[in-house]
Amino acid sequence: MTDGELRHMVSKTLTCRIDKRANCSEKMEEFLKRCFYHTGQYDSQEHFVALDKKLKEHEGGRLSNRLFYLSIPPNIFVDAVKCASSSASSLSGWTRVIVEKPFGRDSKTSAALTNSLKHYLEEDQIFRIDHYLGKELVENLSVLRFSNLIFEPLWSRQYIQNVQFIFSEDFGTEGRGGYFNHYGIIRDIMQNHLLQILALFAMETPVSLDAEDIRNEKVKVLRSMRPIQLEDVVIGQYKGTAKGGVTYPGYTDDTTVPKDSLTPTFAAAALFIDNSRWDGVPFLMKAGKALHTRSAEIRVQFRHVPGNLYNRNYGGTNLDQTTNELVIRVQPDEGIYLKINNKVPGLGMRLDQSHLNLLYSARYSKEIPDAYERLLLDAIEGERRLFIRSDELDAAWALFTPLLKEVEEKKMIPELYPYGSRGPVGAHYLAAKHNVQWGDL
Ligand code: BG6
Repeated sequence: MTDGELRHMVSKTLTCRIDKRANCSEKMEEFLKRCFYHTGQYDSQEHFVALDKKLKEHEGGRLSNRLFYLSIPPNIFVDAVKCASSSASSLSGWTRVIVEKPFGRDSKTSAALTNSLKHYLEEDQIFRIDHYLGKELVENLSVLRFSNLIFEPLWSRQYIQNVQFIFSEDFGTEGRGGYFNHYGIIRDIMQNHLLQILALFAMETPVSLDAEDIRNEKVKVLRSMRPIQLEDVVIGQYKGTAKGGVTYPGYTDDTTVPKDSLTPTFAAAALFIDNSRWDGVPFLMKAGKALHTRSAEIRVQFRHVPGNLYNRNYGGTNLDQTTNELVIRVQPDEGIYLKINNKVPGLGMRLDQSHLNLLYSARYSKEIPDAYERLLLDAIEGERRLFIRSDELDAAWALFTPLLKEVEEKKMIPELYPYGSRGPVGAHYLAAKHNVQWGDL
């Protein structure tokens, strides 16, 4: 690619968040002029020396910081870090490295990766990215909880019956099977994105908003989690289907996937946190590809009102009630709503389920920044709050590794579900076993 081609590519997705009155196109032009394309091998010291030389020319002797963003296959992480640290680090400012998942496949490979990186980098130079932490509604979780008196007192086993973390995509691997087949949905979504949200959701109040204080609390939650039992897990894989004259491929129809693959594209699990706040509360996770919709949400289902007056027959009518449910919709159509029972207006007495609804598009005129936008900016500013510390990563793998090992050693057969459906029926049995109903039905 030439510099011009790179700039053209970047310009197509570039956004401008400066004051409306200022001239965005001028600013964008200025930014694009600073983008250069440089090519080389990930494991060649020589090529990194050339990169260093080029960077120095542009830096022109000014104090310079360098941020390497490794959005590259994991098997070349260490080589690239080695070359970057020895041949292309900043001599006058900081050098940081953003690492994209997968951070290993299990506890052992993750620890090996961390150890290798530590040969070349200090922990405070490593920014392990989990882009779900950069999503607006995930960041808002702590605000909702810790700055509103009405939620925090309810945030425990006393009032919460169960919590659900749901991720679904309405498309399959479609050519990305090469990566996916080696990892599967549990590693791709649950062990990181959903577990990170769970930790933020369930943590105790941190001492402050400092990165270390927040991450200390998250680690405590992760380390308090009960080992996941195989009987609390359901796995699935999508199969081809035809709907409305259109044929949708199955997972193993993907040419990058082996025909006999047992890799799960769907999983549901019940997890528990063995501490005084959450003892006995099921935290259900569900993640799947090629489902009927694309969404990510957190659902908090509250207990029933004890001795509820309106549960008794009221003038001969049994007034149906629904569970209070707080829904935090991470995407799409970002929003937060609370399901409540409400009286239907009129002379009679009928109850109805209504929503107290905060829809972001209606309340805020601002466009919501992409998760990566926030996280890259944080990395530049040295803000670590939304990045994963190595002990958090260890705790996350310690939770999922035994389960993954069991699933793989036993060659557990995934339950097939049609492309575009709501996933395997086993997920409903799993929820029912814990006296829960999925809220997204
Ligand atoms: C990535 C997974 O981390 O997240 C992908 O590897 C998944 O499989 C993606 O599609 C989903 O991210 P988003 O932001 O589009 O919900």
